[in-house]
Amino acid sequence: MTNGTSSGPSAPLSASLTEGPDAPYIHAEDLFKIYKSDELEVVALRGLDLRVARGEMMAIVGASGSGKSTLLNILAGLDQPSAGRITVGHRNLLTVTAEDLVEYRRREVGFVWQQTGRNLIPYLTAEENVTVPMALDGRSAKQARDRARQLLEQVGLIEERRRRPTELSGGQQQRVAIAVALANNPPLLLADEPTGELDSATADEVFRVMTDLNRDTGVTVVIVTHDREITRRVDRVVAMRDGRTSTEIVRRAAFARGQQFAADEYAVVDRSGRLQIPREYLDELDIGRRARVTMADGRVEVRPEDGADGDRKESR
Ligand SMILES: Nc1ncnc2c1ncn2[C@@H]1O[C@H](COP(=O)(O)OP(=O)(O)OP(=O)(O)O)[C@@H](O)[C@H]1O
Ligand SMILES: [Mg+2]
Repeated sequence: MTNGTSSGPSAPLSASLTEGPDAPYIHAEDLFKIYKSDELEVVALRGLDLRVARGEMMAIVGASGSGKSTLLNILAGLDQPSAGRITVGHRNLLTVTAEDLVEYRRREVGFVWQQTGRNLIPYLTAEENVTVPMALDGRSAKQARDRARQLLEQVGLIEERRRRPTELSGGQQQRVAIAVALANNPPLLLADEPTGELDSATADEVFRVMTDLNRDTGVTVVIVTHDREITRRVDRVVAMRDGRTSTEIVRRAAFARGQQFAADEYAVVDRSGRLQIPREYLDELDIGRRARVTMADGRVEVRPEDGADGDRKESR
């Protein structure tokens, strides 16, 4: 007979964060990021929820200042969250040690910035740029060179391997940047507006490289983007508003690749039952500080409260 210490019938809440077979690869719950400077406090993420499956390719959209880069920097291990929960694979990014974070940045994630100049070292060739992360990870020069060539082949730039960044177009530079990001074979590729500085044809080439790599290697891809072409062509688009995920657009799988996709839009409901109502709806219905919420015929209705006008004025 055992006594006492065996786990009780009710599992702790945090159990949902440990990676079981069905657990999301990226799992953020009620995530907060507060930037503090002298007198100013900016709440960049305020209770964000996000789940991303292993091998998924998804996009994050949202107005300027909605917290997209903040989220991506946290996922990249470049910035630390303030509160909440966030795991990537088995790692908890709130409690990760500095040592483990170095390992995480080196092996688990690759990152592509919007500014082409920020991704590559200007005085190194394309091939040398791709070998850098591998040298840092202790691989032999030969191993690094072979892998760099394989990657440059994959992004369609093997011929250009001896060129320096200034001798490459913006789109070619971004493709090299993808190769650099994937040098150590990380399971996660993050890109913050990777096509923001490119024309649409060039942007398409870069996007295609990411799609191919996602399909061929199973790398999970999270792209922050304003590019409509990209958002139309990924499986899922998550919209951020005021530091939270507000809606998700999921493509219906029944439609074949390359065709016009049908899309369903969902509002994200968090653990506490909160959801964001689009600002346009609130304005249209003149909903101010409070709304009347009722359930009828299997649906939840949100309506302006009686005398809502007075309330609005009260809350400025
Ligand atoms: N290092 C920082 N220090 C203070 N405030 C910051 C810092 N980084 C971001 N912020 C603030 O946090 C909020 C979210 O910024 P973030 O860069 O994540 O937005 P974004 O959605 O990426 O916007 P954009 O589309 O313009 O790139 C903004 O109010 C921004 O001013
Ligand atoms: Mg940004």
